[in-house]
Amino acid sequence: MRQIPGIRPLRPPRAVRAAYGRVARMRRAVRRVVTQSPQSLFLRELMVRPGMMGAVCASSPRLAARMAALVDPALGGLVVELGGGTGAITAALLARGVAPERLVVFEQSQALAAHLKQRFPRVQVIHGDAADVALARDKRLLPVDAAGEPLPVDFVVSGLPLRSIPAPARQRILHAGAQVLAPHGRLLQFTYALRGPSPWQGAGLRRLGSEHVLANLPPARIDVLACTADPCPHAVSAP
Ligand SMILES: C[S@@+](CC[C@H](N)C(=O)[O-])C[C@H]1O[C@@H](n2cnc3c(N)ncnc32)[C@H](O)[C@@H]1O
Repeated sequence: MRQIPGIRPLRPPRAVRAAYGRVARMRRAVRRVVTQSPQSLFLRELMVRPGMMGAVCASSPRLAARMAALVDPALGGLVVELGGGTGAITAALLARGVAPERLVVFEQSQALAAHLKQRFPRVQVIHGDAADVALARDKRLLPVDAAGEPLPVDFVVSGLPLRSIPAPARQRILHAGAQVLAPHGRLLQFTYALRGPSPWQGAGLRRLGSEHVLANLPPARIDVLACTADPCPHAVSAP
């Protein structure tokens, strides 16, 4: 406001100043929601790295709940989530009763990994490639037992867009994921391919069953897989 010499500028009344303050706070809150909400984070990542996201939006609550329902939280080993994204499935796993200290999430996007760490401070979020899951287990970077030995991985829960990941990288992920799964373990993968074999079958896992979840965009299929043999040939890590 231009000041005229000798004349004191008029201050807006207190109510007007308070209203300005409220509007400014509201604008900041809206900006926060628009730029930091899970869905806008997902969209931003989708625009930057479409192949790595492999979906048009985050998993629906229904898909996340169905994935989590297939996990038995009472087994005592680890649940490893591959491709945590915005955390829809992570949240469902915690709601299912998986203890946060038994849950490990791999996420390759730095922005999404930071979001997951902030959203789930008690969960171990690893900003890295899912293909390194076996290496992380062998280097004792995943939770260990009292003797310092790696805890068994009871469940691998994958939201990775395997079909849009280039073949060599996909092969490394499939090998590592199958390798890390305990002999009694189960691997859950959701896919938008409603028919056809699971890529994990090419890594030696056996598909036990599938279920369709229509309440997702697009509709999805959940595959449940297990080791083909007992003891699981993948349970022993490569030298
Ligand atoms: C379909 S989105 C997951 C959706 C998630 N359930 C959600 O609701 O947000 C796939 C996720 O896998 C991650 N991703 C892709 N390739 C990866 C890799 N090699 N290692 C770890 N994460 C990966 C992507 O960054 C993305 O967050």
